[in-house]
Amino acid sequence: MKCLTLLLALLCIANVYASDIEVLHWWTAKGETEAQAILEKALLEENIKWNNFAIVGEGGESAVRVLHMRALSGNPPDVAQIKGPDIGEWTRIGMLEEIGQITDTSLWPQILPQIVRETVTVDGKYMAVPINIHRVNWLWLNKAIFDQLSLPVPTTWDSFFDIADKIKAAGYIAIAHGGTDWQDALLFESMALSLLGAEKYKQAFVEHDKAVLTSPEMIHVFEQFKRLHQYTDSSMRGKDWYQASQLISNNKAGMQFMGDWAKGMWNAQGKTAMVDYICVDVPESKGLFSYNIDSFVFFEKNGSKTPREIQRGFADTLLSEKFQADFNLAKGSIPVRKGINMVKFDQCSHKSFADFNSGELVPSFTQNLASTSYLQNIMIKIISNYFNNPAADATNTVNYLSLAIRAIKE
Ligand code: BGC
Repeated sequence: MKCLTLLLALLCIANVYASDIEVLHWWTAKGETEAQAILEKALLEENIKWNNFAIVGEGGESAVRVLHMRALSGNPPDVAQIKGPDIGEWTRIGMLEEIGQITDTSLWPQILPQIVRETVTVDGKYMAVPINIHRVNWLWLNKAIFDQLSLPVPTTWDSFFDIADKIKAAGYIAIAHGGTDWQDALLFESMALSLLGAEKYKQAFVEHDKAVLTSPEMIHVFEQFKRLHQYTDSSMRGKDWYQASQLISNNKAGMQFMGDWAKGMWNAQGKTAMVDYICVDVPESKGLFSYNIDSFVFFEKNGSKTPREIQRGFADTLLSEKFQADFNLAKGSIPVRKGINMVKFDQCSHKSFADFNSGELVPSFTQNLASTSYLQNIMIKIISNYFNNPAADATNTVNYLSLAIRAIKE
Protein backbone atom coordinates (compact mmCIF):
# COMPACT_ATOMS: atom_id res chain seq x y z
CA MET A 1 0.00 0.00 0.00
CA LYS A 2 2.82 2.32 1.03
CA CYS A 3 4.58 1.58 -2.24
CA LEU A 4 1.45 2.33 -4.21
CA THR A 5 1.00 5.71 -2.51
CA LEU A 6 4.62 6.55 -3.18
CA LEU A 7 4.28 5.53 -6.80
CA LEU A 8 1.14 7.64 -7.24
CA ALA A 9 2.85 10.61 -5.65
CA LEU A 10 5.82 10.21 -7.97
CA LEU A 11 3.53 9.95 -10.97
CA CYS A 12 1.74 13.12 -9.86
CA ILE A 13 5.00 14.98 -9.50
CA ALA A 14 6.04 13.77 -12.93
CA ASN A 15 2.79 15.03 -14.36
CA VAL A 16 3.03 18.40 -12.72
CA TYR A 17 6.53 19.00 -13.95
CA ALA A 18 6.38 17.37 -17.33
CA SER A 19 5.80 19.83 -20.17
CA ASP A 20 3.62 18.85 -23.04
CA ILE A 21 4.77 18.75 -26.60
CA GLU A 22 2.16 18.17 -29.29
CA VAL A 23 3.42 15.90 -32.05
CA LEU A 24 1.69 15.28 -35.36
CA HIS A 25 2.55 11.97 -37.02
CA TRP A 26 0.99 8.98 -38.78
CA TRP A 27 2.45 6.07 -36.84
CA THR A 28 -0.75 4.25 -36.09
CA ALA A 29 -0.18 0.64 -37.20
CA LYS A 30 1.21 -2.11 -35.01
CA GLY A 31 4.98 -1.77 -34.81
CA GLU A 32 4.64 1.95 -35.46
CA THR A 33 2.75 2.46 -32.20
CA GLU A 34 5.31 0.35 -30.31
CA ALA A 35 8.10 2.51 -31.74
CA GLN A 36 6.19 5.68 -30.92
CA ALA A 37 5.68 4.44 -27.34
CA ILE A 38 9.45 4.04 -27.02
CA LEU A 39 9.86 7.65 -28.07
CA GLU A 40 7.15 8.72 -25.67
CA LYS A 41 8.86 6.91 -22.80
CA ALA A 42 12.30 8.29 -23.66
CA LEU A 43 10.85 11.79 -23.64
CA LEU A 44 9.12 11.28 -20.33
CA GLU A 45 12.50 10.38 -18.87
CA GLU A 46 13.52 13.90 -19.88
CA ASN A 47 10.32 15.21 -18.30
CA ILE A 48 8.67 15.90 -21.62
CA LYS A 49 5.11 14.71 -22.05
CA TRP A 50 4.10 13.50 -25.51
CA ASN A 51 0.79 14.97 -26.59
CA ASN A 52 -0.35 12.62 -29.31
CA PHE A 53 -1.75 14.01 -32.56
CA ALA A 54 -1.82 10.89 -34.73
CA ILE A 55 -3.66 10.85 -38.04
CA VAL A 56 -4.35 7.45 -39.55
CA GLY A 57 -3.48 6.98 -43.19
CA GLU A 58 -0.66 5.39 -45.02
CA GLY A 59 2.23 7.48 -46.16
CA GLY A 60 0.88 10.43 -44.18
CA GLU A 61 -1.35 11.90 -46.89
CA SER A 62 -4.14 12.77 -44.44
CA ALA A 63 -1.68 13.86 -41.76
CA VAL A 64 -0.04 16.36 -44.11
CA ARG A 65 -3.46 17.68 -45.17
CA VAL A 66 -4.51 18.21 -41.55
CA LEU A 67 -1.18 19.84 -40.84
CA HIS A 68 -1.78 22.35 -43.63
CA MET A 69 -5.15 23.26 -42.17
CA ARG A 70 -3.76 23.67 -38.66
CA ALA A 71 -0.82 25.73 -39.90
CA LEU A 72 -2.95 27.97 -42.10
CA SER A 73 -5.27 28.70 -39.21
CA GLY A 74 -2.22 29.83 -37.22
CA ASN A 75 -2.26 26.88 -34.85
CA PRO A 76 0.40 24.37 -35.90
CA PRO A 77 1.44 21.58 -33.52
CA ASP A 78 4.79 21.97 -31.75
CA VAL A 79 6.40 19.23 -33.79
CA ALA A 80 5.42 17.32 -36.94
CA GLN A 81 6.65 14.34 -38.94
CA ILE A 82 7.72 16.07 -42.15
CA LYS A 83 10.31 14.71 -44.51
CA GLY A 84 12.19 15.27 -47.75
CA PRO A 85 11.52 18.35 -49.91
CA ASP A 86 8.45 19.25 -47.82
CA ILE A 87 10.94 20.45 -45.19
CA GLY A 88 12.06 23.08 -47.70
CA GLU A 89 8.48 24.11 -48.50
CA TRP A 90 7.63 24.72 -44.85
CA THR A 91 10.95 26.50 -44.29
CA ARG A 92 10.45 28.89 -47.21
CA ILE A 93 7.11 30.06 -45.92
CA GLY A 94 8.85 30.85 -42.65
CA MET A 95 7.01 28.34 -40.48
CA LEU A 96 9.90 26.32 -39.08
CA GLU A 97 12.52 26.81 -36.43
CA GLU A 98 16.13 26.22 -37.36
CA ILE A 99 17.49 23.21 -35.47
CA GLY A 100 20.80 25.01 -34.80
CA GLN A 101 18.84 27.53 -32.71
CA ILE A 102 17.34 24.73 -30.66
CA THR A 103 20.29 22.48 -29.96
CA ASP A 104 23.97 22.01 -30.65
CA THR A 105 24.32 20.44 -34.09
CA SER A 106 28.11 20.73 -34.30
CA LEU A 107 28.54 16.93 -34.10
CA TRP A 108 26.08 16.17 -36.87
CA PRO A 109 28.73 16.02 -39.62
CA GLN A 110 30.42 13.24 -37.62
CA ILE A 111 27.40 11.29 -36.44
CA LEU A 112 25.04 11.49 -39.42
CA PRO A 113 25.60 10.15 -42.96
CA GLN A 114 25.94 12.88 -45.58
CA ILE A 115 22.77 11.89 -47.44
CA VAL A 116 20.80 12.21 -44.23
CA ARG A 117 22.23 15.64 -43.50
CA GLU A 118 21.46 16.78 -47.03
CA THR A 119 17.87 15.60 -46.64
CA VAL A 120 17.27 17.79 -43.59
CA THR A 121 19.25 20.81 -44.81
CA VAL A 122 17.59 23.80 -46.46
CA ASP A 123 19.74 26.68 -47.73
CA GLY A 124 22.67 25.50 -45.60
CA LYS A 125 20.67 25.15 -42.38
CA TYR A 126 19.39 22.07 -40.59
CA MET A 127 15.62 22.39 -40.50
CA ALA A 128 14.54 18.95 -39.25
CA VAL A 129 15.86 16.25 -36.94
CA PRO A 130 16.20 12.86 -38.66
CA ILE A 131 15.24 9.75 -36.76
CA ASN A 132 15.58 6.65 -38.94
CA ILE A 133 16.31 5.20 -42.36
CA HIS A 134 13.70 2.96 -43.95
CA ARG A 135 14.35 0.95 -47.07
CA VAL A 136 11.41 0.96 -49.44
CA ASN A 137 12.40 -1.48 -52.19
CA TRP A 138 12.02 -4.77 -50.35
CA LEU A 139 10.27 -7.93 -51.40
CA TRP A 140 8.95 -9.94 -48.44
CA LEU A 141 8.32 -13.65 -48.76
CA ASN A 142 6.06 -15.76 -46.63
CA LYS A 143 8.34 -18.53 -45.39
CA ALA A 144 5.60 -21.09 -44.68
CA ILE A 145 4.11 -20.78 -48.17
CA PHE A 146 7.51 -20.79 -49.89
CA ASP A 147 8.50 -23.90 -47.92
CA GLN A 148 5.22 -25.67 -48.55
CA LEU A 149 5.44 -25.07 -52.31
CA SER A 150 9.25 -25.53 -52.43
CA LEU A 151 9.72 -22.19 -54.13
CA PRO A 152 13.11 -20.54 -54.67
CA VAL A 153 13.78 -16.85 -53.97
CA PRO A 154 12.79 -14.89 -57.10
CA THR A 155 15.86 -13.02 -58.34
CA THR A 156 14.64 -12.13 -61.83
CA TRP A 157 11.27 -10.83 -62.97
CA ASP A 158 10.77 -13.97 -65.06
CA SER A 159 11.19 -16.15 -62.00
CA PHE A 160 9.03 -13.75 -60.00
CA PHE A 161 6.09 -14.14 -62.40
CA ASP A 162 6.60 -17.87 -62.49
CA ILE A 163 6.53 -18.09 -58.69
CA ALA A 164 3.52 -15.76 -58.49
CA ASP A 165 1.64 -18.11 -60.84
CA LYS A 166 2.49 -21.08 -58.65
CA ILE A 167 1.37 -19.34 -55.47
CA LYS A 168 -1.88 -18.33 -57.13
CA ALA A 169 -2.45 -21.83 -58.48
CA ALA A 170 -2.01 -23.21 -54.96
CA GLY A 171 -4.95 -21.06 -53.82
CA TYR A 172 -3.04 -18.26 -52.07
CA ILE A 173 -2.93 -14.57 -52.91
CA ALA A 174 0.39 -14.08 -54.70
CA ILE A 175 0.94 -10.42 -53.78
CA ALA A 176 -0.40 -8.94 -50.54
CA HIS A 177 -1.53 -5.54 -51.69
CA GLY A 178 -4.00 -3.03 -50.31
CA GLY A 179 -4.67 -1.29 -53.59
CA THR A 180 -4.52 2.38 -52.63
CA ASP A 181 -2.74 5.09 -54.64
CA TRP A 182 0.19 5.03 -52.28
CA GLN A 183 0.62 1.25 -52.33
CA ASP A 184 0.12 1.04 -56.10
CA ALA A 185 2.82 3.66 -56.56
CA LEU A 186 5.17 1.95 -54.11
CA LEU A 187 4.86 -1.23 -56.18
CA PHE A 188 5.58 0.79 -59.29
CA GLU A 189 8.57 2.52 -57.71
CA SER A 190 10.20 -0.78 -56.75
CA MET A 191 9.75 -2.16 -60.22
CA ALA A 192 10.83 1.06 -61.93
CA LEU A 193 14.05 1.25 -59.92
CA SER A 194 14.81 -2.35 -60.76
CA LEU A 195 14.16 -2.04 -64.49
CA LEU A 196 15.60 1.45 -65.01
CA GLY A 197 18.58 1.34 -62.65
CA ALA A 198 19.57 4.13 -60.26
CA GLU A 199 20.70 6.67 -62.83
CA LYS A 200 17.57 6.66 -64.96
CA TYR A 201 15.35 6.40 -61.89
CA LYS A 202 16.90 9.62 -60.61
CA GLN A 203 16.63 11.34 -63.97
CA ALA A 204 12.95 10.44 -64.14
CA PHE A 205 11.70 10.79 -60.58
CA VAL A 206 14.11 13.26 -59.02
CA GLU A 207 15.07 15.49 -61.95
CA HIS A 208 11.84 14.81 -63.86
CA ASP A 209 13.68 14.64 -67.18
CA LYS A 210 11.03 14.58 -69.90
CA ALA A 211 13.06 12.38 -72.26
CA VAL A 212 13.48 9.67 -69.64
CA LEU A 213 9.94 9.99 -68.34
CA THR A 214 8.50 9.37 -71.80
CA SER A 215 11.17 6.95 -73.06
CA PRO A 216 10.41 3.48 -74.48
CA GLU A 217 12.07 2.07 -71.34
CA MET A 218 9.58 3.89 -69.15
CA ILE A 219 6.71 2.61 -71.27
CA HIS A 220 8.09 -0.89 -70.75
CA VAL A 221 8.21 -0.30 -66.97
CA PHE A 222 4.54 0.69 -66.97
CA GLU A 223 3.62 -2.37 -69.03
CA GLN A 224 5.46 -4.72 -66.70
CA PHE A 225 3.94 -2.98 -63.70
CA LYS A 226 0.43 -3.67 -65.02
CA ARG A 227 1.24 -7.39 -65.10
CA LEU A 228 1.43 -7.36 -61.29
CA HIS A 229 -2.24 -6.46 -60.96
CA GLN A 230 -3.53 -9.98 -61.65
CA TYR A 231 -1.64 -11.29 -58.61
CA THR A 232 -3.32 -8.95 -56.14
CA ASP A 233 -6.66 -9.60 -54.47
CA SER A 234 -9.44 -7.29 -55.66
CA SER A 235 -11.31 -7.54 -52.35
CA MET A 236 -8.34 -5.74 -50.74
CA ARG A 237 -8.92 -2.60 -52.82
CA GLY A 238 -8.75 0.47 -50.61
CA LYS A 239 -7.23 -1.32 -47.63
CA ASP A 240 -4.26 0.16 -45.77
CA TRP A 241 -0.75 -1.34 -46.01
CA TYR A 242 -0.90 -3.02 -42.61
CA GLN A 243 -4.07 -4.84 -43.64
CA ALA A 244 -2.17 -6.16 -46.63
CA SER A 245 0.77 -7.11 -44.40
CA GLN A 246 -1.68 -9.00 -42.22
CA LEU A 247 -2.23 -11.35 -45.17
CA ILE A 248 1.42 -12.37 -44.79
CA SER A 249 1.00 -12.91 -41.02
CA ASN A 250 -2.10 -15.03 -41.61
CA ASN A 251 -0.40 -17.12 -44.29
CA LYS A 252 -2.95 -15.98 -46.84
CA ALA A 253 -0.48 -14.32 -49.20
CA GLY A 254 2.92 -15.32 -50.50
CA MET A 255 4.74 -12.03 -51.12
CA GLN A 256 4.55 -8.30 -50.46
CA PHE A 257 6.37 -5.26 -51.78
CA MET A 258 6.60 -2.81 -48.89
CA GLY A 259 9.00 -0.66 -46.91
CA ASP A 260 10.50 -2.21 -43.80
CA TRP A 261 7.94 -0.61 -41.48
CA ALA A 262 6.04 -3.85 -42.33
CA LYS A 263 8.78 -5.74 -40.50
CA GLY A 264 8.07 -3.55 -37.46
CA MET A 265 4.48 -4.75 -37.57
CA TRP A 266 5.30 -8.43 -37.99
CA ASN A 267 7.85 -8.31 -35.20
CA ALA A 268 5.33 -6.64 -32.90
CA GLN A 269 3.03 -9.58 -33.66
CA GLY A 270 5.72 -11.97 -32.47
CA LYS A 271 6.98 -12.99 -35.91
CA THR A 272 10.68 -13.45 -36.60
CA ALA A 273 12.72 -12.43 -39.61
CA MET A 274 13.94 -15.38 -41.70
CA VAL A 275 11.76 -17.75 -39.65
CA ASP A 276 8.28 -16.44 -40.47
CA TYR A 277 9.10 -14.03 -43.27
CA ILE A 278 12.11 -13.48 -45.49
CA CYS A 279 13.42 -10.17 -46.78
CA VAL A 280 14.96 -10.17 -50.24
CA ASP A 281 15.93 -7.66 -52.87
CA VAL A 282 13.18 -6.77 -55.31
CA PRO A 283 14.06 -8.91 -58.39
CA GLU A 284 16.99 -7.55 -60.42
CA SER A 285 17.68 -4.86 -57.79
CA LYS A 286 20.82 -6.07 -56.07
CA GLY A 287 22.64 -3.13 -54.51
CA LEU A 288 19.83 -0.64 -55.24
CA PHE A 289 18.39 1.06 -52.18
CA SER A 290 15.45 3.47 -52.21
CA TYR A 291 15.56 5.36 -48.95
CA ASN A 292 12.94 7.00 -46.81
CA ILE A 293 14.19 9.09 -43.91
CA ASP A 294 11.69 10.09 -41.24
CA SER A 295 12.30 13.40 -39.55
CA PHE A 296 10.59 15.89 -37.26
CA VAL A 297 10.30 19.65 -37.70
CA PHE A 298 9.63 22.29 -35.05
CA PHE A 299 7.06 24.95 -35.80
CA GLU A 300 7.49 28.65 -35.15
CA LYS A 301 4.65 29.62 -32.88
CA ASN A 302 3.34 33.08 -32.27
CA GLY A 303 1.35 32.72 -29.10
CA SER A 304 2.20 29.84 -26.78
CA LYS A 305 5.79 29.13 -27.72
CA THR A 306 7.24 25.73 -26.90
CA PRO A 307 9.93 26.33 -24.25
CA ARG A 308 13.43 25.97 -25.69
CA GLU A 309 14.51 23.33 -23.20
CA ILE A 310 11.56 21.16 -24.22
CA GLN A 311 12.43 21.50 -27.88
CA ARG A 312 16.07 20.77 -27.11
CA GLY A 313 15.14 17.72 -25.02
CA PHE A 314 13.02 16.43 -27.89
CA ALA A 315 15.70 16.98 -30.53
CA ASP A 316 18.48 15.48 -28.41
CA THR A 317 16.41 12.43 -27.49
CA LEU A 318 15.79 11.58 -31.15
CA LEU A 319 19.51 11.25 -31.79
CA SER A 320 20.62 9.78 -28.49
CA GLU A 321 22.41 6.45 -28.88
CA LYS A 322 20.20 4.25 -26.70
CA PHE A 323 17.05 5.67 -28.20
CA GLN A 324 18.33 5.20 -31.75
CA ALA A 325 18.87 1.49 -31.06
CA ASP A 326 15.60 0.87 -29.22
CA PHE A 327 13.39 2.87 -31.54
CA ASN A 328 14.73 1.52 -34.81
CA LEU A 329 14.59 -2.04 -33.54
CA ALA A 330 10.84 -1.61 -33.08
CA LYS A 331 10.23 0.48 -36.18
CA GLY A 332 11.88 -1.90 -38.64
CA SER A 333 14.25 0.81 -39.85
CA ILE A 334 17.99 1.25 -39.27
CA PRO A 335 19.52 3.93 -37.03
CA VAL A 336 20.17 7.25 -38.62
CA ARG A 337 23.06 7.81 -36.26
CA LYS A 338 26.37 6.17 -37.11
CA GLY A 339 28.10 3.76 -34.74
CA ILE A 340 24.99 2.36 -33.05
CA ASN A 341 25.37 -1.12 -31.62
CA MET A 342 23.14 -3.30 -33.81
CA VAL A 343 23.68 -6.70 -32.15
CA LYS A 344 19.99 -7.03 -31.37
CA PHE A 345 18.94 -6.26 -34.95
CA ASP A 346 17.87 -9.04 -37.31
CA GLN A 347 19.34 -10.13 -40.62
CA CYS A 348 17.05 -7.84 -42.62
CA SER A 349 18.26 -4.77 -40.74
CA HIS A 350 21.86 -5.89 -41.18
CA LYS A 351 21.29 -6.29 -44.90
CA SER A 352 19.64 -2.88 -45.03
CA PHE A 353 22.57 -1.35 -43.15
CA ALA A 354 25.14 -2.98 -45.43
CA ASP A 355 23.29 -1.98 -48.60
CA PHE A 356 22.76 1.58 -47.34
CA ASN A 357 26.51 1.88 -46.83
CA SER A 358 27.65 0.23 -50.02
CA GLY A 359 24.73 0.26 -52.46
CA GLU A 360 23.39 2.84 -54.87
CA LEU A 361 21.02 5.11 -52.99
CA VAL A 362 17.99 6.81 -54.50
CA PRO A 363 15.35 8.85 -52.70
CA SER A 364 11.94 7.21 -52.67
CA PHE A 365 9.53 9.42 -54.57
CA THR A 366 6.48 7.63 -53.18
CA GLN A 367 7.66 8.43 -49.65
CA ASN A 368 8.15 12.14 -50.37
CA LEU A 369 11.92 11.99 -50.42
CA ALA A 370 12.21 13.16 -54.02
CA SER A 371 9.52 15.82 -54.34
CA THR A 372 7.03 17.75 -52.31
CA SER A 373 3.94 15.88 -51.18
CA TYR A 374 1.87 18.01 -53.52
CA LEU A 375 3.67 16.74 -56.61
CA GLN A 376 3.97 13.24 -55.17
CA ASN A 377 0.19 13.07 -54.70
CA ILE A 378 -0.47 13.88 -58.33
CA MET A 379 2.14 11.38 -59.51
CA ILE A 380 0.83 8.54 -57.41
CA LYS A 381 -2.73 9.19 -58.58
CA ILE A 382 -1.71 8.93 -62.24
CA ILE A 383 0.24 5.74 -61.58
CA SER A 384 -2.62 4.22 -59.61
CA ASN A 385 -5.26 5.11 -62.22
CA TYR A 386 -3.17 3.39 -64.85
CA PHE A 387 -2.71 0.30 -62.69
CA ASN A 388 -6.40 -0.09 -61.95
CA ASN A 389 -7.82 0.71 -65.35
CA PRO A 390 -7.42 -2.27 -67.70
CA ALA A 391 -7.99 0.01 -70.68
CA ALA A 392 -5.31 2.54 -69.70
CA ASP A 393 -2.45 2.74 -72.14
CA ALA A 394 1.21 2.96 -71.07
CA THR A 395 2.26 5.45 -73.77
CA ASN A 396 -0.55 7.87 -72.95
CA THR A 397 0.18 7.50 -69.25
CA VAL A 398 3.86 8.40 -69.49
CA ASN A 399 2.99 11.47 -71.59
CA TYR A 400 0.32 12.49 -69.12
CA LEU A 401 2.66 11.95 -66.17
CA SER A 402 5.36 14.04 -67.75
CA LEU A 403 2.89 16.82 -68.63
CA ALA A 404 1.40 16.86 -65.15
CA ILE A 405 4.85 17.12 -63.55
CA ARG A 406 5.80 20.00 -65.85
CA ALA A 407 2.53 21.81 -65.21
CA ILE A 408 3.15 21.69 -61.47
CA LYS A 409 6.83 22.57 -61.59
CA GLU A 410 6.72 25.39 -64.12
C1 BGC B 1 6.77 6.70 -43.06
C2 BGC B 1 7.01 5.52 -42.16
C3 BGC B 1 5.68 4.84 -41.89
C4 BGC B 1 5.02 4.47 -43.21
C5 BGC B 1 3.69 3.77 -43.09
C6 BGC B 1 6.02 6.27 -44.30
O1 BGC B 1 5.72 7.39 -45.08
O2 BGC B 1 7.98 7.29 -43.44
O3 BGC B 1 7.60 5.92 -40.95
O4 BGC B 1 5.88 3.72 -41.08
O5 BGC B 1 4.80 5.66 -43.94
O6 BGC B 1 2.83 4.40 -42.23
